[in-house]
Amino acid sequence: MGPPGAGKGTQGALLARRHGIPRYATGDILREARRENTVLGREAQRYMDAGELVPDDVILGMMREKLSSDEAADGFLLDGFPRTVAQAEGLDALLEDLGQELDAVLSLEVADEEIVRRLSSRRVCAECGRVAPAGAESHESCQECGGALKRRADDEPQTVRRRLEVYREETAPVLAWYERSETPVRTVKGGGSVEEVQARIIGAIAA
Ligand code: AP5
Repeated sequence: MGPPGAGKGTQGALLARRHGIPRYATGDILREARRENTVLGREAQRYMDAGELVPDDVILGMMREKLSSDEAADGFLLDGFPRTVAQAEGLDALLEDLGQELDAVLSLEVADEEIVRRLSSRRVCAECGRVAPAGAESHESCQECGGALKRRADDEPQTVRRRLEVYREETAPVLAWYERSETPVRTVKGGGSVEEVQARIIGAIAA
């Protein structure tokens, strides 16, 4: 968990690779549905472009499908989900149905000014959706597939401000909810280099 631009995607991808498990990032799944112009993608678009959350029932239905798949049977990493208390309750019920449980909730903390700085320079591939690695934002094409690098529609400053508000109003209470649960919550400072943050995360998980 963490505010927009905290580095959830960057760190989540590294961590999932390290553990050999799938990473389910709700934002990425929704953006892929948009690229493919599916019903889900069309439904999600207006919420995403405005920096608002996609309705809980849509997200929970989507995640039920992912977490019930064979590839999720040996563990998974969730990125950007749950984002409301209703989603956290829905996830709890889903995990119980599946006989699984969360090992930990990881929360990345980054100052607002750093978030604005990161998101104003973030570039993503229009073809495959990958985020240009930190330091490579000025490249013109994706290092993975050669697609054009573009700014994300919801990275405009006004929408970033709204996403930060939504995070405080809807998602910060989820952390408080987990603090009251039996799932350990590990808070990690998200400033510094990608490698430094990853080392902190690995240390926090091992603690
Ligand atoms: P989503 O895609 O999840 O957006 P977000 O939470 O706002 O997070 P971001 O993807 O913006 O940032 P990140 O934390 O992954 O940072 P990143 O690693 O890219 O959601 C988008 C929208 O989808 C939502 O607004 C909502 O509409 C909808 N949605 C998604 N999930 C939902 C849910 N569960 N319920 C309802 N609606 C949902 O890093 C950011 C930048 O910083 C990159 O350029 C990166 O290269 C750079 N960077 C990373 N780490 C560092 C570092 N250490 N130093 C310098 N630069 C760094």
